[in-house]
Amino acid sequence: MASSAARLQLPALLAMLGALLPGPGGAQTSVHLSNDIIPRGGSVQVNCSASCDEDAVLGLETQLTKEEVNSGTNWKIYELSDIQKDSRPICFSNCHGIQTSASVSITVYSLPKRVELAPLPQWQLVGENLTLRCLVEGGVPRRHLSVLLLREEEELSRQPAVGEPAEVTTTVLVDRDNHGANFSCRTELDLRPQKQELFQNSSVPRQLRTFVLPMTHPWLVTPRIMEVGTQKLVNCTLHGLFPASEAQVHLALKDQRLEPKVTYNKDSLSAMAWVKANTEEEGTQQLTCAVILGNQSRTTRENVTIYSFPAPNLTLSQSEVSEWTMVRVECKAHARAMVTLNGAPPGPPGSSAQFLLNASAEDDGRSFLCTAALEVAGKVLHKNKTLELRVLYGPQLEESDCPGNWTWQEGSWETLKCQARGNPIPKVNCSRKGDGSVLPIGDRMLVNRNISGTYMCRATSRQVEVTHEVVVNVIYKQNDMVIIIVVAATVILGTVVIAAYLYNRQRKIREYKLQKAREAAALKLNTPP
Ligand SMILES: *[C@@H]1O[C@H](CO)[C@@H](O)[C@H](O)[C@H]1NC(C)=O
Ligand SMILES: *[C@@H]1O[C@H](CO)[C@@H](O)[C@H](O)[C@H]1NC(C)=O
Ligand SMILES: *[C@@H]1O[C@H](CO)[C@@H](O)[C@H](O)[C@H]1NC(C)=O
Ligand SMILES: *[C@@H]1O[C@H](CO)[C@@H](O)[C@H](O)[C@H]1NC(C)=O
Ligand SMILES: *[C@@H]1O[C@H](CO)[C@@H](O)[C@H](O)[C@H]1NC(C)=O
Ligand SMILES: *[C@@H]1O[C@H](CO)[C@@H](O)[C@H](O)[C@H]1NC(C)=O
Ligand SMILES: *[C@@H]1O[C@H](CO)[C@@H](O)[C@H](O)[C@H]1NC(C)=O
Ligand SMILES: *[C@@H]1O[C@H](CO)[C@@H](O)[C@H](O)[C@H]1NC(C)=O
Ligand SMILES: *[C@@H]1O[C@H](CO)[C@@H](O)[C@H](O)[C@H]1NC(C)=O
Ligand SMILES: *[C@@H]1O[C@H](CO)[C@@H](O)[C@H](O)[C@H]1NC(C)=O
Ligand SMILES: *[C@@H]1O[C@H](CO)[C@@H](O)[C@H](O)[C@H]1NC(C)=O
Ligand SMILES: *[C@@H]1O[C@H](CO)[C@@H](O)[C@H](O)[C@H]1NC(C)=O
Repeated sequence: MASSAARLQLPALLAMLGALLPGPGGAQTSVHLSNDIIPRGGSVQVNCSASCDEDAVLGLETQLTKEEVNSGTNWKIYELSDIQKDSRPICFSNCHGIQTSASVSITVYSLPKRVELAPLPQWQLVGENLTLRCLVEGGVPRRHLSVLLLREEEELSRQPAVGEPAEVTTTVLVDRDNHGANFSCRTELDLRPQKQELFQNSSVPRQLRTFVLPMTHPWLVTPRIMEVGTQKLVNCTLHGLFPASEAQVHLALKDQRLEPKVTYNKDSLSAMAWVKANTEEEGTQQLTCAVILGNQSRTTRENVTIYSFPAPNLTLSQSEVSEWTMVRVECKAHARAMVTLNGAPPGPPGSSAQFLLNASAEDDGRSFLCTAALEVAGKVLHKNKTLELRVLYGPQLEESDCPGNWTWQEGSWETLKCQARGNPIPKVNCSRKGDGSVLPIGDRMLVNRNISGTYMCRATSRQVEVTHEVVVNVIYKQNDMVIIIVVAATVILGTVVIAAYLYNRQRKIREYKLQKAREAAALKLNTPP
């Protein structure tokens, strides 16, 4: 700075001297520029003239490329070209042997070679200060050059360009509204007072991305235990995010990445994914949910225990046996499970249980339940298996199922019941001894005196036959005519008997009275007076 000022001082001093000290006879040199300020590399015309009463000798002293383009009496026009920097050409004239001079200053202007806004952080936390930095290279004259920092079109700061390159900074407090805003830097070379324009150069805009990520951890909802081969939904939610839609979710079981379906709300997100439990993941695994926003993340981890627990194997040595056969009932489960087998004698708990059974008719259709219990991550799980035993027995025809004595009224509706027990269910029929007529079993029938008799009921199954005798008595009334005749005969007979008796009695009374009278008369005759 100091040295360039010194360089400028000498020609200026000479020019001042030339202007202040007019030559003899009022001779004076003057100089006039077509333009005070020109773009770098441009050209300018200089009119050098002298006030002299005779022809003066005119000249222009400069290091610039000059060319005389016109001249007249005591004036000359030079064209200076390719002017790269500020310059002070000196015009001189010789009038009557006396030299006077005058100088003029040419100002060169140029637009900045580079206007650049330093890169912004990729993500900026809301509530923090952001420093904007602009670099400006080139651009003269500096006294007319200012640097502006802008948010969109809003001027945040305006400062002079100082230094080479010039660096201008300002800070802004970042809020949510700044998300997506474009920041830029602009230079203004204001040459309007010099009858030129306002020259503006802008940097490439840079877009700011701001974010808010709460300190809380995502809320992860997951099953604690999962059986191999099953699928479960897991949920991961985080509130208070900004901008929620730009957050990413990473969900993984062990190192298997899940593909969550993410739902974005105003300031929260919720990710949902299906987790499949595979055999390779048996054991306690970590389920991770990470929400990533800006250059930060929040993570939650939960333990998920993956187990395999097949249902116990329940077996019968034979599932269909004849009565009084020994059957082995056995239940085996997962090595770490505890088994309970219904019907087994009490014993030490273990992963298997068994017992022998002498199959009886009552065991037909009996079901055996085996329950296995396994503890997984503090939770007791159960699995059951049931099996049914078939016992072949019979046939049996017993008085209780097939009563042997039926007494029915003729004309009534009755049903003959006769059932046989056995597996398979026996066939039963009843036929009358003698004529072999069959009595329907289990059907309502109208009782007729002809069905009375003794029946042989037969039950057959598995080529075995058992029999049971059933007596059917039918009570019926005598014929009405017979009864009338019998009653009428009885009445007539009774009447005749009574009439005969009464007649006989009357006759006897009369005979008696006659006798008495005869005796009384006889007595009267015999008695002495
Ligand atoms: C140069 O300046 C002189 C003196 O002021 C004037 O007479 C002359 O016309 C000028 N020349 C041109 C081309 O303007
Ligand atoms: C500055 O702006 C001018 C036009 O206004 C343009 O010609 C020049 O290339 C710009 N400079 C830069 C560094 O962008
Ligand atoms: C995030 O970026 C900011 C500035 O860009 C930096 O200060 C901070 O340390 C970064 N944080 C992490 C976790 O990388
Ligand atoms: C941001 O800068 C201003 C001054 O420029 C200061 O007062 C404020 O405390 C700063 N805020 C933060 C969060 O750094
Ligand atoms: C910022 O610039 C980008 C790209 O030039 C544009 O898509 C976006 O809309 C601008 N942002 C604003 C807030 O104008
Ligand atoms: C997971 O989130 C969805 C939607 O928010 C909800 O419908 C579902 O019930 C949640 N599931 C669990 C296991 O919390
Ligand atoms: C997950 O399991 C590990 C050991 O396998 C244990 O250290 C950790 O505390 C468990 N985490 C939770 C959240 O239960
Ligand atoms: C099964 O029980 C029946 C009747 O009690 C008996 O006769 C038979 O001997 C038993 N069978 C065995 C193998 O113990
Ligand atoms: C049950 O039986 C199946 C097939 O016979 C066998 O693969 C499995 O290992 C058995 N399970 C147990 C607990 O013994
Ligand atoms: C298994 O048996 C247990 C106890 O006997 C019972 O509580 C449970 O409901 C049964 N489970 C199934 C699936 O049958
Ligand atoms: C079955 O009939 C006989 C005569 O045939 C009789 O002695 C017996 O009392 C009757 N039994 C029943 C239970 O009616
Ligand atoms: C009744 O059963 C016996 C064997 O139990 C059979 O031989 C007979 O044919 C059957 N009678 C009728 C009419 O079904």
